[in-house]
Parts: sequence; structure tokens; C-alpha cells
Amino acid sequence: MIGKEKKCIGIIFGGSSNEHYVSISSAKTVFKALISKTNKERFNVRAFYINKYGVWFDNNQSLEILKDNCRVDSTNKFQLLPKREINFLHNIEFHSIDIWFPLLHGLNGEDGAIHGLLKFTQKPLVGGGILGSALGMDKILMKKIFSTLAIPQVNYLAIQNQNIGEDNVKNNLSVEIIEKLNLPVFVKPANSGSSLGISKAKNKSEIIYALQKAWEIDSRIVIEEGLDVRELECGIIGNIKLSTSEVGEVLYSTDWYDYDSKYSLDNKIIIPADIDSQVSKKIKKIAIQSCRALHIYGFARVDFFLEKISNKIFLNEINTTPGFTSKSMFPMLWNASGLNIDQLVAKLIDISSDS
Ligand SMILES: Nc1ncnc2c1ncn2[C@@H]1O[C@H](COP(=O)(O)OP(=O)(O)O)[C@@H](O)[C@H]1O
Ligand SMILES: [Mg+2]
Repeated sequence: MIGKEKKCIGIIFGGSSNEHYVSISSAKTVFKALISKTNKERFNVRAFYINKYGVWFDNNQSLEILKDNCRVDSTNKFQLLPKREINFLHNIEFHSIDIWFPLLHGLNGEDGAIHGLLKFTQKPLVGGGILGSALGMDKILMKKIFSTLAIPQVNYLAIQNQNIGEDNVKNNLSVEIIEKLNLPVFVKPANSGSSLGISKAKNKSEIIYALQKAWEIDSRIVIEEGLDVRELECGIIGNIKLSTSEVGEVLYSTDWYDYDSKYSLDNKIIIPADIDSQVSKKIKKIAIQSCRALHIYGFARVDFFLEKISNKIFLNEINTTPGFTSKSMFPMLWNASGLNIDQLVAKLIDISSDS
């Protein structure tokens, strides 16, 4: 490409969240797309791997991981830096980066933390900003905002500012939950991912156990009425104008989409989902409306429930850094909508903006 300078893309991946390995797979997919035949003339890549203990690695070591030349476990020897020392951006050359591509899933990444940090480098980034990321991650605030806009969601209760570690608090809460919601319920930490810390509970003792489990991850908890549902997902891309992908359905063989089933090979993804065109249209409309409501832009995956008995749609959640592995729904949705992975990655970079 004569006359056009190559852009240097800084991929950040790994991270100290429980979705560390998913992030590595996502980063490998994006890296491969950036060095593909279509994109290699446009982009250079610098990589920044953060191990599970929060230690940052330089470009050379990080690229070895993306190229599969180095086992991630070998970075464990750097698991602990001397007490209270943080090597964040220390000895790490980041000035040559033109555009950041953060691919950290879950806490310390998807929640806006990395977006805030990168803002100080004064370089644009792929994806949304601090506010949308934080709101998209927080199941309580997300739901409260959706309620004001009458976006359809399942009945829920939010718990915060209570010491759920105490037995009598859990007991009183379980009584209130049974009074106010139909069983079974799903008990969820307000901030988590990959279904971690979530339980389905169908009686008082299960609710008490589920509250304890969720509380170990987050002191803020959401309890929802559990419905019998199909699970539909829709991708969005854009800034001022948001575009939607086809709607896809995920099929799994377990009772609900828990951690093990999310990473099991038995799942089936069907794109486009076998649903009425009116349902698909409504899902796309709500996907845009809900992203707008939380100030989410760049890219995201919006997840819905379709209740089997009533055919009603409910918004479940928005993921602001959806999985980007070769088997992930987000790239598959766009592939079915006319953008292959190389085109998708280039497009996301082209629309990157200041956080
Ligand atoms: N209210 C509900 N009714 C039925 N199933 C639910 C409900 N809430 C959650 N689930 C099941 O739990 C899974 C994980 O819940 P979700 O809120 O999406 O958490 P995460 O952010 O960890 O993905 C869903 O994909 C679904 O299978
Ligand atoms: Mg989910």
C-alpha cells in the first residue's frame, strides 16, 4: 500500500481474571487476522501479555505466546514480583503503538479498568470506553438502566450493602426471594463472567448455598426468576451508527449454559437462528437500543432469552469484550453476516476511537 503508513496495533491479553485462557485464544485469533495476507500490509503488531499474577511481559515474550512458541506455564516463574512492586508499563515500550486492541475478558479488563489505563497513553482503542464497559459488566446497574427504558428483562432482585456472609442475613434474604420471585431462581454475582459463581436454586436451602457462592465472588448479587429458554445472541459493531449481525442460537446439552457447557465441544451454534423474522427484527432493535442506553460502542455481543412457552424475548446481558476465539459466537455471527475474521478485525481497527 504505497503512501499509507502501517499502523502499529498493540494487543493486550491474558490478565488476572478467571477468563485468562479464553483471552489468550482470542488474542491468537486476532493476531492471525492481523498478519493475514489481506491485513499484513496495513498493520504491524506489538503484543503485551499479562500473566495470571498481573505481571506484564514485553513484546518479544508476548509474541512467542501468540505464535505458540512458548508455553504460558513457563511465565509462572515470574508470578511474584518483589512485594508491592508493579511492573505495569515499566521497561515496556508502548510509545510506538498507534491503536490499542485490548482483549482481556472479565474483571480487570472487560469492566473498563484497562480502558481507563489506556486512556493515559492518549491513543485510540478498539472497543468501547470506560463507562460502557463498566455498565455492561455490572448486572445490577445494567438492569436498573434497562428498567427505566422498558427493555424486556426477567423479574429480578438486586442485593447490595448487606453482609451476606452472615447466616441470618442469608436466611432473611432467602425468605424475601421466595416471597417475591417464582422458583427456580438464578443467583448471580453482579460482576463475573463465563457463568462463574452462578447457581440455579429451587428451594430455600439451595438459595442460601447459592447466595454464599455468589458472595464469594462479589458482594453485590442479582437474583432472577429462572425461565425455560432458548438462548439467542446478536453482534453489534459501530460508533455513531451501530450495525447488527445476524442472530445466532447456541444449543447445549446441559440444563443451563454453565461454565463446563460453555467450553464443551458438544455445543452447537446455529446462524441464523431458526426464529420468526419478527423476533429477529425485534432482537436487533433491542440490541442497538440497549447498547445505546449503556453507552456501549465499538463492538459487543448482546445476549437474549426467548422463553419457550410464551415466545417472549428478554434481554439477558451485554458482553463488551466477547470471546474472539475461532469457535466463538461473535466472529461466527459476523462471518455469517458478510465479514470474515480478517475483514472483521480490520473493520474494528478502522472504527477505533479515543476511550
Ligand atoms: N433468568 C434465567 N433464566 C434461565 N436461564 C438463565 C437465567 N439467567 C441465567 N441463566 C443461564 O445462566 C447462563 C449464564 O448467565 P449469564 O447471566 O449470561 O452470566 P455470564 O455473564 O456469566 O454469562 C445463561 O446463559 C443461561 O443459560
Ligand atoms: Mg452470559
